[in-house]
Amino acid sequence: MRKKIVAGNWKMNLDYETGLGVFSEIVNMLRDEKQGGQQVVICAPFIHLHSLAKLSAEVLAVGAQNCHAADSGAFTGEISAGMLKSIACEYVILGHSERRQYFQESDSLIFEKTKAALKHNLKPIFCIGETLEERNSGNFFQLLEKQLKDGLFGLDVNEFKQVVIAYEPVWAIGTGLTASPQQAQEVHAFIRQTIATQYGTEVAENSTILYGGSCNAQNAPELFAQSDIDGGLIGGASLKSRDFVNIVKALNH
Ligand code: 13P
Repeated sequence: MRKKIVAGNWKMNLDYETGLGVFSEIVNMLRDEKQGGQQVVICAPFIHLHSLAKLSAEVLAVGAQNCHAADSGAFTGEISAGMLKSIACEYVILGHSERRQYFQESDSLIFEKTKAALKHNLKPIFCIGETLEERNSGNFFQLLEKQLKDGLFGLDVNEFKQVVIAYEPVWAIGTGLTASPQQAQEVHAFIRQTIATQYGTEVAENSTILYGGSCNAQNAPELFAQSDIDGGLIGGASLKSRDFVNIVKALNH
Protein backbone atom coordinates (compact mmCIF):
# COMPACT_ATOMS: atom_id res chain seq x y z
CA MET A 1 0.00 0.00 0.00
CA ARG A 2 1.17 3.50 -0.78
CA LYS A 3 2.16 5.72 2.07
CA LYS A 4 -0.10 8.78 2.46
CA ILE A 5 1.70 11.95 3.52
CA VAL A 6 0.87 15.53 4.40
CA ALA A 7 4.02 17.66 4.58
CA GLY A 8 4.17 21.31 5.59
CA ASN A 9 6.79 23.54 3.97
CA TRP A 10 7.28 26.55 6.19
CA LYS A 11 9.73 28.14 3.71
CA MET A 12 11.52 31.16 5.29
CA ASN A 13 8.75 31.90 7.78
CA LEU A 14 8.28 31.81 11.56
CA ASP A 15 11.09 32.84 13.90
CA TYR A 16 12.42 30.26 16.33
CA GLU A 17 10.01 30.85 19.26
CA THR A 18 6.96 31.20 17.02
CA GLY A 19 7.90 28.08 15.08
CA LEU A 20 8.25 26.00 18.24
CA GLY A 21 4.85 27.28 19.39
CA VAL A 22 3.08 26.39 16.14
CA PHE A 23 4.79 23.00 16.06
CA SER A 24 3.75 22.19 19.64
CA GLU A 25 0.14 23.07 18.80
CA ILE A 26 0.28 20.75 15.79
CA VAL A 27 1.71 17.90 17.89
CA ASN A 28 -1.01 18.30 20.52
CA MET A 29 -3.86 18.51 18.01
CA LEU A 30 -2.61 15.50 16.08
CA ARG A 31 -2.27 13.50 19.25
CA ASP A 32 -5.90 14.22 20.11
CA GLU A 33 -7.49 14.21 16.67
CA LYS A 34 -5.53 12.31 14.05
CA GLN A 35 -6.99 9.11 12.72
CA GLY A 36 -5.49 6.85 10.10
CA GLY A 37 -1.95 5.94 9.20
CA GLN A 38 -0.96 9.02 7.24
CA GLN A 39 2.55 10.33 7.82
CA VAL A 40 2.79 14.00 8.81
CA VAL A 41 5.97 16.00 8.21
CA ILE A 42 6.96 19.58 8.96
CA CYS A 43 9.80 20.97 6.83
CA ALA A 44 11.14 23.92 8.79
CA PRO A 45 14.07 26.32 8.51
CA PHE A 46 17.38 24.71 9.51
CA ILE A 47 17.67 26.48 12.87
CA HIS A 48 14.36 25.00 14.08
CA LEU A 49 15.00 21.39 13.19
CA HIS A 50 16.92 20.08 16.18
CA SER A 51 14.37 21.39 18.69
CA LEU A 52 11.40 20.28 16.58
CA ALA A 53 12.78 16.76 16.28
CA LYS A 54 12.88 16.58 20.08
CA LEU A 55 9.30 17.88 20.38
CA SER A 56 7.86 15.61 17.70
CA ALA A 57 7.06 12.81 20.14
CA GLU A 58 6.72 10.28 17.31
CA VAL A 59 3.52 12.03 16.23
CA LEU A 60 5.16 13.53 13.17
CA ALA A 61 8.47 13.73 11.35
CA VAL A 62 10.75 16.66 10.72
CA GLY A 63 12.24 17.63 7.37
CA ALA A 64 14.62 20.23 5.92
CA GLN A 65 13.99 22.33 2.81
CA ASN A 66 17.37 21.85 1.14
CA CYS A 67 20.78 20.24 1.62
CA HIS A 68 24.17 20.35 -0.08
CA ALA A 69 25.32 17.53 -2.35
CA ALA A 70 28.71 17.09 -0.65
CA ASP A 71 29.29 15.35 2.69
CA SER A 72 31.48 18.14 4.08
CA GLY A 73 33.99 20.76 3.00
CA ALA A 74 34.55 24.41 2.22
CA PHE A 75 30.99 25.39 1.32
CA THR A 76 30.31 28.42 3.49
CA GLY A 77 26.73 28.68 4.63
CA GLU A 78 25.66 25.21 3.52
CA ILE A 79 24.28 22.19 5.41
CA SER A 80 24.96 18.57 4.44
CA ALA A 81 22.58 15.61 4.41
CA GLY A 82 24.68 13.86 7.06
CA MET A 83 24.36 16.87 9.37
CA LEU A 84 20.59 16.79 8.97
CA LYS A 85 20.48 13.09 9.73
CA SER A 86 22.57 13.66 12.87
CA ILE A 87 19.76 15.73 14.41
CA ALA A 88 17.03 13.15 13.64
CA CYS A 89 15.75 14.93 10.57
CA GLU A 90 13.98 12.36 8.35
CA TYR A 91 12.97 14.17 5.16
CA VAL A 92 14.40 16.85 2.88
CA ILE A 93 12.60 18.82 0.16
CA LEU A 94 14.69 18.90 -3.02
CA GLY A 95 14.09 20.62 -6.35
CA HIS A 96 11.46 23.02 -5.07
CA SER A 97 10.57 25.51 -7.82
CA GLU A 98 11.76 28.38 -5.60
CA ARG A 99 15.21 26.74 -5.43
CA ARG A 100 15.15 26.15 -9.18
CA GLN A 101 14.09 29.76 -9.88
CA TYR A 102 15.95 31.85 -7.28
CA PHE A 103 19.04 29.70 -6.78
CA GLN A 104 19.43 28.40 -10.33
CA GLU A 105 19.28 24.76 -9.26
CA SER A 106 19.51 22.47 -12.29
CA ASP A 107 18.13 18.97 -12.71
CA SER A 108 21.66 17.55 -12.48
CA LEU A 109 22.43 19.40 -9.22
CA ILE A 110 19.10 18.25 -7.77
CA PHE A 111 20.03 14.69 -8.74
CA GLU A 112 23.35 15.01 -6.86
CA LYS A 113 21.51 16.32 -3.80
CA THR A 114 19.02 13.45 -4.01
CA LYS A 115 21.89 10.94 -4.07
CA ALA A 116 23.45 12.63 -1.04
CA ALA A 117 20.17 12.55 0.88
CA LEU A 118 19.65 8.87 0.16
CA LYS A 119 23.23 8.04 1.14
CA HIS A 120 22.42 9.42 4.59
CA ASN A 121 19.00 7.77 4.83
CA LEU A 122 17.05 10.99 4.43
CA LYS A 123 13.86 10.67 2.40
CA PRO A 124 13.78 13.20 -0.44
CA ILE A 125 10.53 15.02 -1.21
CA PHE A 126 11.39 15.65 -4.84
CA CYS A 127 9.44 18.50 -6.48
CA ILE A 128 8.56 19.03 -10.12
CA GLY A 129 6.17 21.45 -11.78
CA GLU A 130 5.55 23.70 -14.75
CA THR A 131 5.16 27.48 -14.99
CA LEU A 132 2.00 28.98 -16.46
CA GLU A 133 3.87 29.79 -19.64
CA GLU A 134 5.03 26.18 -19.92
CA ARG A 135 1.50 24.90 -19.29
CA ASN A 136 0.08 27.18 -21.95
CA SER A 137 2.74 26.10 -24.42
CA GLY A 138 1.01 22.73 -24.54
CA ASN A 139 4.08 20.52 -24.12
CA PHE A 140 4.43 20.70 -20.36
CA PHE A 141 4.13 16.93 -20.01
CA GLN A 142 7.49 16.61 -21.78
CA LEU A 143 8.96 19.15 -19.38
CA LEU A 144 7.71 17.22 -16.34
CA GLU A 145 9.06 14.01 -17.85
CA LYS A 146 12.46 15.67 -18.33
CA GLN A 147 12.50 16.86 -14.70
CA LEU A 148 11.84 13.26 -13.61
CA LYS A 149 14.38 11.73 -15.97
CA ASP A 150 17.22 14.15 -15.36
CA GLY A 151 16.62 14.69 -11.65
CA LEU A 152 15.56 11.26 -10.49
CA PHE A 153 15.72 8.37 -12.92
CA GLY A 154 19.47 7.94 -12.53
CA LEU A 155 18.62 6.27 -9.20
CA ASP A 156 18.52 2.52 -8.97
CA VAL A 157 15.18 1.00 -8.07
CA ASN A 158 15.91 0.58 -4.37
CA GLU A 159 16.97 4.19 -4.09
CA PHE A 160 13.94 5.35 -6.03
CA LYS A 161 11.57 3.55 -3.64
CA GLN A 162 12.69 5.91 -0.84
CA VAL A 163 11.67 9.03 -2.78
CA VAL A 164 8.42 10.95 -2.34
CA ILE A 165 7.41 12.99 -5.40
CA ALA A 166 5.56 16.29 -5.17
CA TYR A 167 3.80 17.83 -8.17
CA GLU A 168 3.69 21.58 -7.60
CA PRO A 169 2.51 23.62 -10.57
CA VAL A 170 4.47 26.86 -10.23
CA TRP A 171 1.43 28.93 -11.19
CA ALA A 172 -0.45 27.54 -8.19
CA ILE A 173 2.22 28.19 -5.54
CA GLY A 174 1.27 31.01 -3.19
CA THR A 175 -1.16 32.43 -5.73
CA GLY A 176 -4.46 31.11 -4.39
CA LEU A 177 -4.91 29.49 -7.82
CA THR A 178 -5.19 25.77 -7.14
CA ALA A 179 -5.02 23.18 -9.89
CA SER A 180 -8.49 21.70 -10.22
CA PRO A 181 -8.77 18.14 -8.91
CA GLN A 182 -9.06 17.00 -12.55
CA GLN A 183 -5.96 18.93 -13.65
CA ALA A 184 -3.96 17.58 -10.72
CA GLN A 185 -5.19 14.01 -11.21
CA GLU A 186 -4.28 14.13 -14.90
CA VAL A 187 -0.68 15.07 -14.09
CA HIS A 188 -0.38 12.63 -11.19
CA ALA A 189 -1.56 9.78 -13.43
CA PHE A 190 1.02 10.86 -16.01
CA ILE A 191 3.78 10.88 -13.38
CA ARG A 192 2.78 7.41 -12.19
CA GLN A 193 2.76 6.13 -15.77
CA THR A 194 6.22 7.64 -16.38
CA ILE A 195 7.51 5.90 -13.24
CA ALA A 196 5.95 2.62 -14.43
CA THR A 197 7.78 2.88 -17.74
CA GLN A 198 11.10 3.41 -15.93
CA TYR A 199 10.80 1.18 -12.86
CA GLY A 200 7.79 -1.08 -13.49
CA THR A 201 4.14 -1.06 -12.50
CA GLU A 202 4.57 -2.33 -8.97
CA VAL A 203 7.06 0.40 -8.05
CA ALA A 204 4.79 3.02 -9.65
CA GLU A 205 1.73 1.78 -7.77
CA ASN A 206 3.63 2.03 -4.49
CA SER A 207 5.06 5.52 -5.14
CA THR A 208 3.72 8.40 -3.08
CA ILE A 209 2.88 11.46 -5.20
CA LEU A 210 1.86 14.64 -3.37
CA TYR A 211 0.08 17.69 -4.72
CA GLY A 212 1.26 21.18 -3.76
CA GLY A 213 0.08 24.66 -4.68
CA SER A 214 -2.49 26.68 -2.71
CA CYS A 215 -3.78 23.53 -1.05
CA ASN A 216 -5.93 24.39 1.97
CA ALA A 217 -8.48 22.83 4.30
CA GLN A 218 -11.31 23.70 1.90
CA ASN A 219 -9.92 22.22 -1.30
CA ALA A 220 -7.91 19.36 0.22
CA PRO A 221 -10.77 16.82 0.52
CA GLU A 222 -11.54 16.92 -3.20
CA LEU A 223 -7.88 16.88 -4.24
CA PHE A 224 -7.07 14.00 -1.88
CA ALA A 225 -10.06 12.02 -3.19
CA GLN A 226 -8.34 11.66 -6.59
CA SER A 227 -6.99 8.18 -7.16
CA ASP A 228 -3.38 9.20 -7.90
CA ILE A 229 -3.05 11.93 -5.26
CA ASP A 230 -1.50 10.53 -2.09
CA GLY A 231 -1.40 13.67 0.02
CA GLY A 232 -0.12 17.22 -0.08
CA LEU A 233 2.87 19.53 0.25
CA ILE A 234 1.47 22.57 2.00
CA GLY A 235 2.99 26.04 2.09
CA GLY A 236 0.98 28.95 3.50
CA ALA A 237 -1.66 26.81 5.20
CA SER A 238 1.02 24.91 7.17
CA LEU A 239 1.90 28.07 9.11
CA LYS A 240 -1.37 27.92 11.08
CA SER A 241 -1.76 24.86 13.26
CA ARG A 242 -5.56 24.51 12.93
CA ASP A 243 -5.52 24.84 9.14
CA PHE A 244 -2.69 22.36 8.78
CA VAL A 245 -4.25 19.76 11.08
CA ASN A 246 -7.54 20.05 9.18
CA ILE A 247 -5.66 19.27 5.97
CA VAL A 248 -4.09 16.21 7.64
CA LYS A 249 -7.55 15.08 8.67
CA ALA A 250 -8.83 15.56 5.10
CA LEU A 251 -6.42 12.86 3.96
CA ASN A 252 -8.18 10.29 6.07
CA HIS A 253 -11.55 10.70 4.35
P1 13P B 1 1.44 27.29 -1.03
O1 13P B 1 0.67 26.18 -0.37
O2 13P B 1 1.66 28.48 -0.17
O3 13P B 1 0.88 27.62 -2.38
O4 13P B 1 2.92 26.70 -1.31
C1 13P B 1 3.06 25.46 -1.88
C2 13P B 1 4.48 25.05 -1.82
O5 13P B 1 5.33 25.65 -2.45
C3 13P B 1 4.83 23.95 -0.92
O6 13P B 1 6.14 23.52 -1.14
